[in-house]
Amino acid sequence: MTTNIQVRILKAICPVAADFPSESFYQGKSKLAIQCGEDFFDRIAGKTVIDFGCGEGDDAIEMARRGARRVIGFEIREELIETARRKALAAGVSETCSFESSTKELADIVISLDAFEHFADPAEILRIMNALLEPAGEAFISFGPPWHHPLGGHIFSVFPWAHLIFSEKALMRWRSTFKTDGATRFGEVAGGLNQMTIKRFTGLIQGSGFEIARLELVPIRKLRLFHNRLTREFTTAAVRCRLVKR
Ligand SMILES: C[S@@+](CC[C@H](N)C(=O)[O-])C[C@H]1O[C@@H](n2cnc3c(N)ncnc32)[C@H](O)[C@@H]1O
Repeated sequence: MTTNIQVRILKAICPVAADFPSESFYQGKSKLAIQCGEDFFDRIAGKTVIDFGCGEGDDAIEMARRGARRVIGFEIREELIETARRKALAAGVSETCSFESSTKELADIVISLDAFEHFADPAEILRIMNALLEPAGEAFISFGPPWHHPLGGHIFSVFPWAHLIFSEKALMRWRSTFKTDGATRFGEVAGGLNQMTIKRFTGLIQGSGFEIARLELVPIRKLRLFHNRLTREFTTAAVRCRLVKR
C-alpha cells in the first residue's frame, strides 16, 4: 500500500492523536510503590536517589517527601526541569530534591519510570546509570508498554498494533498534519520513542555493566491466560526490573 493511501486511512480513522493514558491509571496509589515494589520507600530511606527521565518531577518529589536523603531528577527537556523545580519549591522539598540535565553526584539508587522506551540511546543511558551508582547500588527500571504491545506505539497506536501495520513514514506524515515540530522519525518526537522490545531490553542489559536481580513481565490483564515465553512480546503491559552492578 502506498504511503499516501496509508496516510489517508490514518486521517480517516483518527484526524488528531488521542492523549496517551497516564497518571489516572494509578487511581491515587503510589506509582513508585506499584512499579518498584511495596518495600521501595524502606529501601530509599536516608539514601541518595537519581530519577532518570523524571519528567515533571512528581516521583522525585514523592521520594524526597518519603524519606530519601537526597533526590536528583534527571531530565533533558528544559521546560520540564523548570516545572519540576517549581513543584519541588511548592512542596517544600527544594533543599533535598533538585532537577538537572547532567550530574556527577553518585547515588545509592537509580530509578527510571516509564522512560526507557523513550531514550534515544538506551545502551548509553545504562552506561551512565552504572557510572552514577555506588558499587553496592541498585537500579530500578520500569517501562511500558513495550513496542509490540497493542498500544506500544503510544500516539501511533490509533488502533491496536496500528504502529506495526502502517509504515513509519506514513505514521509520521499523519502526525505532521496536527504537529508542526518537523519530526520525521519515531525517535524525533518530543521525548523520543525507541521501539523497545523485551528481547532488545534484556540484550542491552546483558551487554551492560548490570545484571538482572529481578525481572517481572506484567501481562495485559485481559490476555494474562495467554501470556507465556512465546507470546510475551505481544502480551506484556510493562517490564519491571531491579538491576545490580556486575
Ligand atoms: C514518558 S516520560 C516519563 C516521565 C516520568 N518518569 C514519569 O514516569 O512520569 C519520559 C521522560 O524521559 C525523558 N528523557 C528522554 N530521553 C532522556 C535522556 N537522554 N535523559 C534524561 N531524560 C530523558 C523525556 O524528556 C521524558 O520526560
